[in-house]
Amino acid sequence: MPRLEGKVALISGAAMGMGASHARVFVREGARVVLGDIAEDVGRELAAELGEPATFVRLDVTDADSWSAVLARAEESFGPVTVLVNNAGVAGPFTSTAELAPEIYHRTVDVDEHGVFLGMRAAIPGMVAAGGGSIVNISSTAGFSHAGTPNVAYTAAKFAVRGMTKAVAVEYASAGIRVNSVHPGGVLTPMVANSLDDAGRAAVSAGIPLGRLAEPEEISHLVLFLASDEASYVTGAAFVADGGMLAR
Ligand SMILES: NC(=O)c1ccc[n+]([C@@H]2O[C@H](COP(=O)([O-])OP(=O)(O)OC[C@H]3O[C@@H](n4cnc5c(N)ncnc54)[C@H](O)[C@@H]3O)[C@@H](O)[C@H]2O)c1
Repeated sequence: MPRLEGKVALISGAAMGMGASHARVFVREGARVVLGDIAEDVGRELAAELGEPATFVRLDVTDADSWSAVLARAEESFGPVTVLVNNAGVAGPFTSTAELAPEIYHRTVDVDEHGVFLGMRAAIPGMVAAGGGSIVNISSTAGFSHAGTPNVAYTAAKFAVRGMTKAVAVEYASAGIRVNSVHPGGVLTPMVANSLDDAGRAAVSAGIPLGRLAEPEEISHLVLFLASDEASYVTGAAFVADGGMLAR
């Protein structure tokens, strides 16, 4: 049986990169999936390619009203959302704290941290009414260590996501809602491709015990497990998929 049979999932930042990969894997495993993103053209194209079990809705994760509208549309199209993947994120530029523009700090935290809070806040009531659900918050190895991460804003936001995950997991465990965080290392998505040339990529790979960056689908398999009922006893936990980077 497909591992997400009967589930309705909302994935933020699903137009490209890891979010798009999660969407493909979720559809393959029997879920109906709402793709939320600000990148409308690519998002719609992907939804069309995935066919009937997928739909695209414009979502700006920094806007509480946008979340309410997307959840209402999701329920209309497919039924109550019981899986939420808070994946949308921004990173960069690589800069020291003294040189980081306050606007970039605020924008990074707005998307990467506040966006996760707003997503959980919006989705929880429907999950409570449905008798439970699974929330997967995408943090990063930057949720454990500053090493190799673009700047202090990204590190701050990704640490916050790990903390929020535990708080909300404890708060809503009795409602049957599981909440976990996923911490990828370097993954070959537009986020990384845009910030690394070939030499940079080789240098990063050399610092990873497995000797390479991850393909997006290698992270999707972990997200799939956490979204599925196979993870029924798993909540409040942080899962690292980094090719051994943090073990160094
Ligand atoms: N790529 C990596 O190496 C890596 C490593 C660790 C963690 N992560 C995290 O994984 C997640 C996905 O990263 P990715 O590499 O696929 O990035 P990406 O840049 O390839 O894709 C990010 C997606 O988020 C969307 N997005 C940005 N701002 C948004 C907003 N306000 N509202 C809705 N959507 C928005 C973008 O349009 C894009 O589709 C992010 O949270 C990122 O921080 C990435």
